Amino acid sequence: MDTESARKKIEALRQELDRHNYLYYVKAGSEISDYEFDQKLKELEALEKEYPQFNDPMSPTKRVGSDITSEFVQVKHKYPVLSLSNTYNEGELREFDNRIRRETNLEPEYVCELKFDGVSISLNYLQGVLKHAVTRGDGVQGDDVTTNIKTIRSIPLKLQGSGWPAEFEIRGEVLMPFDVFQRLNEAREANGETPFANPRNSTAGTIKMQDSSIVASRSLDAYFYYVPGEIKLTDTHFENLKLASEWGFKISEHTKKCSSIDEVLEFIHYWDNERFNLPVATDGVVVKVNSIPVQNDLGTTAKSPRWAVAYKFKAEKAVTRLLSVSYQVGRTGAVTPVANLDPVQLAGTTVKRASLHNADIIEKLDLHLNDIVEVEKGGEIIPKIVGVDTDSRHPLSAKVQFIEKCPECSTQLVRIDGEAAHYCPNQATCPPQIKGKIVHFISRRAMDIDGMGEETVELFFNNGLVNNIADLYCLKIDDIASLERLGQKSAQRIIDGLEASRKVPFARVLFALGIRYIGETVAKKLTAAFKNIDNLMNASYEQLIDVSEIGQRIAESILNFFGNEENCKLVEQLRHIGLQFELSGEELEGTSDKLAGLSIIISGTFEKHSRNELKKMIEQNGGKNVGSISKKTSYMLAGDNIGPAKLEKIKKLGIPMINEDEFLSMIE
Ligand code: IVH
Repeated sequence: MDTESARKKIEALRQELDRHNYLYYVKAGSEISDYEFDQKLKELEALEKEYPQFNDPMSPTKRVGSDITSEFVQVKHKYPVLSLSNTYNEGELREFDNRIRRETNLEPEYVCELKFDGVSISLNYLQGVLKHAVTRGDGVQGDDVTTNIKTIRSIPLKLQGSGWPAEFEIRGEVLMPFDVFQRLNEAREANGETPFANPRNSTAGTIKMQDSSIVASRSLDAYFYYVPGEIKLTDTHFENLKLASEWGFKISEHTKKCSSIDEVLEFIHYWDNERFNLPVATDGVVVKVNSIPVQNDLGTTAKSPRWAVAYKFKAEKAVTRLLSVSYQVGRTGAVTPVANLDPVQLAGTTVKRASLHNADIIEKLDLHLNDIVEVEKGGEIIPKIVGVDTDSRHPLSAKVQFIEKCPECSTQLVRIDGEAAHYCPNQATCPPQIKGKIVHFISRRAMDIDGMGEETVELFFNNGLVNNIADLYCLKIDDIASLERLGQKSAQRIIDGLEASRKVPFARVLFALGIRYIGETVAKKLTAAFKNIDNLMNASYEQLIDVSEIGQRIAESILNFFGNEENCKLVEQLRHIGLQFELSGEELEGTSDKLAGLSIIISGTFEKHSRNELKKMIEQNGGKNVGSISKKTSYMLAGDNIGPAKLEKIKKLGIPMINEDEFLSMIE
C-alpha cells in the first residue's frame, strides 16, 4: 500500500471505529459484532504501527490507556465549577419555585434531570478535539485526568457533526455502572483486598489511578448535563443538551421539560422508586430553569447558581430487628461479620442480611442482640446498619462480641496491626480456606479447569478426595464417576481439563496460587520481572519493591507466603505435576536484563512506539518504569511536548535524558 492510501485507510478506519464506539456506548445499539469491531481495531493498530507518521493521540486505538502519570497536573477551570443548593422536601422545592416566579415575574419552564452520583468532570474541546478532562477539585482548579478519561468509550475524543464552537466545554458525571462495581468488588475480595463501599468511591479511585490501562478495564461511563452559560449555543438548556447529544455526548434520556412545579414533583416521585432500576447510582433530581436569558437574570451566588436546585432523595431506610450475627471465613482466612435480620422490605427487595464489615463497626454501633436497628440502602449493593434504637433495648440483652475463635475450625483468630479485619491463621486445615483456595485455583481467570465449579469442589472435599490444590491432579476417573451427580462423561471432562491446565502460562499459575494481594495484573508484573518461580521465591524485599506497581503490602505478602514451608512444598508438588513455573520461550522473546536496576520515567510523545509499548520494553528488559521523578530515577526517556515543570525538575535533579533511538539502542 502506498503512503497516501495508508493515510486514507487509517482515517477511514478511525472514523468507522469512532462511529461504532458511539453507537455501542452512547446509543446502546450496534451494527457490527464485537469480533468485527476487534478485527477493525487490530487492522488500524497494525497500520498505525507501520505508518507512525500518522500517529494521532485521539485515535480509537488510544482508548486502551497507556500513559503513566503519577502526579496529576492542576488545571485552572476556565469557568468556575459551582455546586448546587440542596432541598430535601416538597416545601423547600415550592419555596424555590416561588422565588423564581417572584423574581422573574414569569411562569418558568423547568428541566428535570437525574442527579448522578459519581465524580463530576469538565471536558474541554479545542477545534472539536478533546484537550483536557479536569476534575472538580476546589471549583477553581482541578486535576487533569485526560489520559484516564480518554479510556471512557462513551466520551467523544472528537466531536461529531458540525456547529460546535472552536472552544467548547461541557460538564458531566463519570460513573461506574452497578454491574461493573459488583464484579470489581468480587475480584477485589478474591484478591484479599478491601472492597469499595459504593460505586462513587470506586469511580473516584479509578479516575485517579496511575495506570490508565487499568482504568480502561473498569468500563466507566459518563453522562453530561451542563454547558457553561458563558458559551452561547442556544436560548435554552434543553436545546443545548440536544446539541451536545448530536455532537456525540451521552445525555440521559430521562431528562424532561416541566411547565409547573407539580409536574416537577411528579417527576421526583416517579424516580424516587424507579431509580433502583437504573444501571448507575443517582441520589436525587436536579431542577433547572430552562431559559438561558432567565438563568442569566437570576445569576449565581458565590457557591451555586440561583436558577437550579437539587432535590436529594432520602436514602431508603427500614427498621427491623437484629436476630443474630454470623461470621464468614473467606479463602484468605479473613473473617467477615454479617447481621441476620428479621426480613424487611427495603427499596424494592426483601432484606435479610446486612453487612457489618469488621469488629470496629460493631463496636461503634454498640450492637446488642435483638436490638431494633435501622438499615439503609444507599449507593451500596448490600444494605448496612446505620443506627440502633438503644431506648427500646431490653436491659438484659447481650452485647455483640466479635468471636475470638474461627467458627469453622476453632483456631484462635489474629488481627494484623493496622488492619481492620480478623483472620483465621489455619490455612492448612480450615475447611472454607481449603475449599476457597481450590475454587479460586480452578476458576476461569486462573487455571480455568473445564467441568469444575464450586459444587464439584465441595463434593470432592466432603468425600475426602481433595485437601489441597495438588490433590486435584491425583484424582482418578473412577473416583469422580462414582460420586453422586457426576457420571463417566463429566469425570472425563474434569480429568481432561486438569490435563490441559498443565499448559496454562506461568502468570496465571501464580495468580491461581491465591497469594493475598496477587491479582492478575500483579501476577503478570511479577512473572515478567522474575521469569521463573525460583527467582521469585528467592527475591528479597528490595528486589520485590523494585518492580513497578509492587509496593510494601504486596512484597510482604509474597515473602510471607514463601516463608511458609507448606506453601513451598505445594509449589514443589505442582512443579513435579508439570505446571508452568517459568516464562515460555515465546514469552521470554525480546526480554533481557539489560536495564536491570534502572528506573526510567517516560515523558512526552514518541514517533516509533506508543508509551505503552515503551513501558513494556522497559519491563521486559528488567528495568522499572516509574511514574514520578525522584533522585532515584536513572533516566528520562524523553519524547516531544514535555511539560516545562517536568523538564525543570529533571534538570534540577541532574537526571540524564535519552531519546527514543538512544533507548532502543540500549536494549538492542
Ligand atoms: S448541574 C451550575 N446537573 O451534583 C450547575 N449537576 O451538587 C452545575 N450532578 O458538582 C451542575 N447530576 O457533580 C448538574 N444533572 C445534573 C447533575 C449534577 C449530578 C452533580 C455534579 C455537581 C453536583 C452539585
